[in-house]
Amino acid sequence: MDLQRVENDVDLDQLLITEDEIATCLRSMAKEIEADYAGKDDLLLVGVLKGAVMVMADLARALDRHVEMDWMAVTSYGSGTKSSGVVRILKDLDTDVAGRNVLIVEDVVDTGLTLSWLVANLQSRGPASVRIAALLRKPDAMQMEIDVDYVGFDIPNAFVVGYGLDYGEKYRNLRCIATLAGDVHD
Ligand code: PRP
Repeated sequence: MDLQRVENDVDLDQLLITEDEIATCLRSMAKEIEADYAGKDDLLLVGVLKGAVMVMADLARALDRHVEMDWMAVTSYGSGTKSSGVVRILKDLDTDVAGRNVLIVEDVVDTGLTLSWLVANLQSRGPASVRIAALLRKPDAMQMEIDVDYVGFDIPNAFVVGYGLDYGEKYRNLRCIATLAGDVHD
């Protein structure tokens, strides 16, 4: 789905980040990552399903080096509110990360609770390193101090969809990132 969809969709408010801006951002993030991991043969990208699918696909292809890819799916425990900070693994890695250079790939850092838990969980497995790459970060929503090593865009604390991010599982396939109309999610 493209920009036309944003203009015609009454549930969407406004375009926040264009497809081109995302592509440019990920190319530059890839250059940074290449430089930081230069001389290290091992780099395992860990995508957090489902939102990170698009970022993973494009960031991995922007990287001019060998990488491996693996996936985790997590959800907040119990109430369904993702701010509980208590996380349950729905799908674990296929890979043993002991001794590996792990780079977590996320679509958005919102409260930071998911990533905070995930970093601690992966650290407990004895990796050589754990870093984080996130396309979006919402500084005003963060409840945990999280050191995000590679950040695409800092955005306002609004409900955003597209490029992997959903509202009720819709809009993940939107090529750009847009805000949801206020009356839709309130
Ligand atoms: C999103 C996103 C992160 C998490 C960030 O996933 O992909 O994993 O929320 O939120 P936090 O910083 O407040 O913890 P979501 O739970 O919406 O699942 P999805 O990726 O399958 O859409």
